[in-house]
Amino acid sequence: MAPKLRDPSLLKKDVCYINGQWVAAKSGKTFEVHDPSTGQLIATAPEFDIEDTERAIEAAEKAFQSFRHQTGRARSKLLRRWYDLVMENADDLAALITWENGKPLADAKGEVVYAANFLEWFSEEAPRIYGDTIPSSVPGNRVWTIKEPVGVCGLITPWNFPAAMITRKIGPALAVGCTVVCKAPGETPFTSLALAELAHRAGIPKGVVNILTALNNTPEVGEVLTTHRTIRKVSFTGSTNVGKLLMRQCSSTLKKLSLELGGNAPFIVFDDADIDAAVAGAIASKFRSSGQTCVCANRIFVQAGVYDEFARRFAAKVRDEFRVGNGFEQGVTHGPLIHDRAVAKVEAHVRDAEQKGATVVVGGHRIPELGKHFFQPTVITGVTPEMAMFSEETFGPVAGLFKFETEEEVIKMANATDVGLAGYFFSRDVQRVYRVAEHLEVGMVGVNTGLISDPAAPFGGVKESGFGREGSLYGVSEYQITKMVTFGGMGQPLQGSS
Ligand code: SIN
Repeated sequence: MAPKLRDPSLLKKDVCYINGQWVAAKSGKTFEVHDPSTGQLIATAPEFDIEDTERAIEAAEKAFQSFRHQTGRARSKLLRRWYDLVMENADDLAALITWENGKPLADAKGEVVYAANFLEWFSEEAPRIYGDTIPSSVPGNRVWTIKEPVGVCGLITPWNFPAAMITRKIGPALAVGCTVVCKAPGETPFTSLALAELAHRAGIPKGVVNILTALNNTPEVGEVLTTHRTIRKVSFTGSTNVGKLLMRQCSSTLKKLSLELGGNAPFIVFDDADIDAAVAGAIASKFRSSGQTCVCANRIFVQAGVYDEFARRFAAKVRDEFRVGNGFEQGVTHGPLIHDRAVAKVEAHVRDAEQKGATVVVGGHRIPELGKHFFQPTVITGVTPEMAMFSEETFGPVAGLFKFETEEEVIKMANATDVGLAGYFFSRDVQRVYRVAEHLEVGMVGVNTGLISDPAAPFGGVKESGFGREGSLYGVSEYQITKMVTFGGMGQPLQGSS
C-alpha cells in the first residue's frame, strides 16, 4: 500500500540532489526500489556512476571554498532551520521510512525525531568551535591551535536508519564548515532525498549537501568517494567487510576515516539484576527494528540462578506482546526484514542452533502468509559458543539465551569476538557495575538499560567494529583538523612585570 504524503513533492523519483539542483544520472539509468513488506515497486531512483559522482565532488569542492568561511553562527542557523523543517515534515518522513525500510510507523516516527535531534545538537555545537592556547616550552614562543574543517567529505550510509544515519554524519560536517557528497543506500534512497529537499528549503547553499543514489554501481561510486583526491574524509556505517575494503581504498590518499561497523553485542543478566528491568531492556535492545541495528543485543547471557525465570518471562513477552506485519498497520510492533539475504541468514542461525542442541521456545520460522521478508520473532534457549549465533551478528529478530555461572566466565565469553561495538548488562551491585563496564571490550556500555543511542553521547566501537565517534562533542572533531601555529620571537617579558 502506498502512503499518502501530505507533501507529495518530498518523494523524489529519478533525480538526485547535486549542486542545489535535482538531476538524473547522465546515463539516464535508474534502479527499482521495493517495499519490503509487500514486494511492490515504490519508484525508481537514479543509478549514478563514476562521472556523476565526480560531478558531485566538484560541486562540493567549489562550495567548500566559501562555506568554510561562514561563521559558526550562520552555519548553526542553517542546521536549525533544517531541524525545524524535518520536525514539521515528520509524518511524511516517517511514512517514507516505513514504506522503504518496513519498520512500524511508530518506530519510524521515533527515528525522525532521533534524526532531527542530530541536526539540533550540531546546530548548537557550530558556534562553539574553539581552538587552544598552549604554553610553549621555548622562551619567547607562543603556540595556538585552530580547528579547521577537514574539507569535502564522502559519506556512505546504511538502510537500517534511512534518516538518522545521514543527519548523524551531515550534521557535524556542516557544523564545522565541511561540504559533503553522501551516497544514500540503494534499499532506502527516498528518505535521504526527502531530507535533501528539506536541506534545500532550509537555505543550505548549493553544493554544500549533495546526495546521490546507486544500487548496482555502488562499488564504483564507493571507489570514487574513497580514492578521489578532493575528498579528505570518509565516514561509513555498514559491515566490517565493506569497512575494510573502503579503508584499503582510502589509504591511497590517506584520508581521515570514521568506520561504524558490525557488532556482536553481549547482553548480560546477573543474578542480582532487577529481572523486570532486564527483560524490558533485552526486548528493547534485541528486537529494535526487528533486530536490524548494529547495537542490538546479539548474545544474551543469563546467570544460572535467574536463567529459567528470565527465559520464561522474556519468551512470554515475545509470544504475547509482539505483532508482526506491515508497518503501516495499526498495532503492528515488528515489520519485515529488509531483503531475502537477511531472512536467509536469520533462518540459517536458527537451524544451526537447533541442529547443535538448542531449543526454539518461540517462533523459529518464516511467515510466508505475510510476505517473503517476514520472520517470526524467535527465542532460543540452551545456546552455546559452538553455535553460529555466538560468533556472527544475526541482524534479525532472533534472541539466543546462553547460561553462565561466574562473572569471570561471562566477561571472557563476552569478549571472545573480533568486534566490539555495544555491550549491556544488568546488575544492582555498584562494584560490579564499575568492574564489568571497565572489562567489556566495546565502545559503548549500557548498564541497566537496553537503549543507549543519544545524539549527546559518543557512538562508536573498538576492535573490528571500527573507530571514530559519532554524535556528541567527539563527533565534531571527526570532521576537523587541528592546525598548530607557533609564533616565535616574542622576546622577553616586560621589564618590571612580575
Ligand atoms: C546502527 O545500527 O548503525 C545505529 C543504531 C543507533 O544509532 O542506535
